[in-house]
Amino acid sequence: MSEMHHIAISTRALDLWYGSFQALRNINVSIKDGIITSLIGPSGCGKTTLLRCFNRVNERYGNVRTSGTIELLGKNIYDPDISLIELRKSVGMVFQRPNPLPISVYENVVFGLRIHATDGKPHRDELDAAVEKSLTEVGLWKDLKDRLHDRAVGLQLEQQQKLCIARLLPLKPEIILMDEPCSALDVEGTRGIEELMFALKGRYTIVIVTHNMAQARRASDECIFMLLGELIEHTRTGDLFLNPKNPKTAEYIEGRYG
Ligand SMILES: Nc1ncnc2c1ncn2[C@@H]1O[C@H](COP(=O)(O)OP(=O)(O)OP(=O)(O)O)[C@@H](O)[C@H]1O
Ligand SMILES: [Mg+2]
Repeated sequence: MSEMHHIAISTRALDLWYGSFQALRNINVSIKDGIITSLIGPSGCGKTTLLRCFNRVNERYGNVRTSGTIELLGKNIYDPDISLIELRKSVGMVFQRPNPLPISVYENVVFGLRIHATDGKPHRDELDAAVEKSLTEVGLWKDLKDRLHDRAVGLQLEQQQKLCIARLLPLKPEIILMDEPCSALDVEGTRGIEELMFALKGRYTIVIVTHNMAQARRASDECIFMLLGELIEHTRTGDLFLNPKNPKTAEYIEGRYG
């Protein structure tokens, strides 16, 4: 790989506490632009917590305190002039269970455009175009173009998860965070989401949390291994699996714990 990548996300001396419990310890990480990075490590090591730092969603969970810095595309996300709304538009997130809204496919895709519209109601043509473009980008347009007014919660789980990705796209995110996005899906569904991640990478920076070592190996360019709130190793995926530098990484990928 000779392409140059800028840094999409970087943290310096990032600590995070839930009350008196320290969940992240001195995280210094630089995540490259336009690639897929996976976060791996045993349950409770802080993967979800770290992911949620990147769009400041942890703050919703109460009693959370952080120190250190987090920069997205070179900008400190705790700067007073940062708009949380803009931050969350540019850093989209999908979850373990697909969570489309209980409204139509069409309305799910345009939901963000409607709530973020600044100058009056968005025009019908603009919404239609966004729906076609976003569903095409996630590979759902052909299957759903005649079912746009069906309820989204009636779709297959794989389609629901793709729809959850599609509805981020009209807001023009730079970064897409995925917290175990395939854990509710079967093998076929998992493959569908991984293929979609490949199709989206380059245009978006993708950070995925996964418990599935095979998935981390197949799907990510770089891999971050965490343990007890610390970042143990961050390197190219091939190197992490074939030639881990830290013995703790080796033990984890060999399945000796977690
Ligand atoms: N809202 C919260 N309040 C208090 N402690 C929390 C909260 N959320 C997470 N924790 C604790 O912080 C630690 C890290 O949790 P986190 O959910 O980030 O881990 P994880 O690596 O995503 O785990 P899993 O693989 O099970 O999803 C755990 O010890 C967890 O119990
Ligand atoms: Mg988690």
